[in-house]
Amino acid sequence: MFESIRIVARAGAGNRILVLGQFQGQGLDPASARLDASGAAAAAAKRAEATGDVGSVVEAFPNGKGAAERVLIVGLGARDKFEAGVLRNVAAAMGRRLAGVKAEGAVIELGPALKLAKVDGWSAGAAFGEGVGLLGWVCDEFRGTAAKAESRRKLQLSSSDRSFAEGMERGLTLAEATNLARTLSQSPPNVATPAWMAEQAAKLARRTGLKIKVFKGADLEKAKFEGLINVGKASENKPCMIRLEYVPSGSGAPKTGKYAKPAVLIGKTMTYDTGGLSLKINNGMVGMKRDKDGGCSVLGAMQAIATVIKPRRRVVALLAVAENSISDEAYRPDDVLRFRNGVTVEVTNTDAEGRLVLADALCWACDEEDPAYMIDMATLTGGVVTALGSTYCGLFCEDDTLRGKIERACGASGERVWRLPMHQEYREMMKSPVADIVNSNPNRKAHPIQGAAFLSYFVKEGVPWCHLDIAGVHATEKNAGPYIEGPVGWGVRMLANLLEAE
Ligand code: BES
Ligand code: MN
Ligand code: ZN
Repeated sequence: MFESIRIVARAGAGNRILVLGQFQGQGLDPASARLDASGAAAAAAKRAEATGDVGSVVEAFPNGKGAAERVLIVGLGARDKFEAGVLRNVAAAMGRRLAGVKAEGAVIELGPALKLAKVDGWSAGAAFGEGVGLLGWVCDEFRGTAAKAESRRKLQLSSSDRSFAEGMERGLTLAEATNLARTLSQSPPNVATPAWMAEQAAKLARRTGLKIKVFKGADLEKAKFEGLINVGKASENKPCMIRLEYVPSGSGAPKTGKYAKPAVLIGKTMTYDTGGLSLKINNGMVGMKRDKDGGCSVLGAMQAIATVIKPRRRVVALLAVAENSISDEAYRPDDVLRFRNGVTVEVTNTDAEGRLVLADALCWACDEEDPAYMIDMATLTGGVVTALGSTYCGLFCEDDTLRGKIERACGASGERVWRLPMHQEYREMMKSPVADIVNSNPNRKAHPIQGAAFLSYFVKEGVPWCHLDIAGVHATEKNAGPYIEGPVGWGVRMLANLLEAE
């Protein structure tokens, strides 16, 4: 939508667009009205279309009488329901209009309205910056000569409210990290192979100072990554495990105390999921390039962590990357796999592949990383889409402290999680007549929970762990709010918030 978005201290001379806010059913408040001496804004705010609804934008033209050439009055919704998060959508509505009128900048003066609603400038600015930044995502790398190039402007935003402007800067940075995840997700499977994903992770590491190690070939055997080796073996695009590590600078990570152990973030990164020999049917394969979105979001989060969040503890990211394909070398239903923690798995369905590669990462983390906690993100089941739609991410976490942290972080990012149960009965459902467990119970019961129950066999007792099934929320079909149809980078901002709040 824009070529770039920058927060500047002072608006450039050519930039004479003023943005004011208006609550539902109310005129412009006096302090906002004073910012346009011509009176045009106050008059416009009384027009019938000036509802103050979130998403509404009304224009006023001071005609040379005021400091601004054009005033946008953006709707802030009901004053008693207002909170900073509303501003993501407000900013998006503003951004769409600014792009429509080919603006190169705007001065955002929501201060008076924020004061009325008692919302602090920094949080408001952060949500606003996220909204504009997310709206600004462009991925036209895969367009060709038959597409018309869209003309885009460089957008400069400023505000006289210092903390609002600083908040906007932060919001933009988190949006950029989210947009990295979205661009990776959008990349097609003939480009985004496991080796390509490893290159992208290496680029990120170079840019941000993260440590990186990519396990491939013989390394996978040595590390006993049984799931990755088997799921990935049918494809000529060979699997890998990517390990990234953030280490606090200066004195490094504390050796003792609360922050001594690392947070471990794990992402399912299936560059394509055909279902394997249990092949996906009836066009169920379309869109499975996005089966890597858990890993894409973990990479986005690591960018934010390394560049702006800079938490006190170490953070380890593990991306289990493979292509679930078919060939005579494919793993099969009936195969029995022996994982590095000794648990054996009878494969009943090669389309339940995500849990097999995540099992490797969970086992590895428990054995080698001494985690403070582990969070995995995965497009794991179609069942979670049936259960929760695209409104809530399915959350499985039996540790109250970790769950609380995640719920609070989601509150700040505007992402939503809904807890699903994980009792012993579900673990029983996974028992196999041949091996220890099956990767999928052939009955149709509780698929999302089966996924979580399976994973629990690979988590050591006492390690706090959360599984997030993002299959319903990782992408959107609508152009709405700050998103356009496509990937949303679900969880990037949540993870950044979580590590910041600790
Ligand atoms: N990647 C899919 C899950 C998925 C479905 C993600 C739809 C996004 C949208 C996963 O690997 C899968 O195939 N799951 C199966 C599991 C079943 C075979 C136990 C499913 O959900 O049908
Ligand atoms: Mn699958
Ligand atoms: Zn999958």
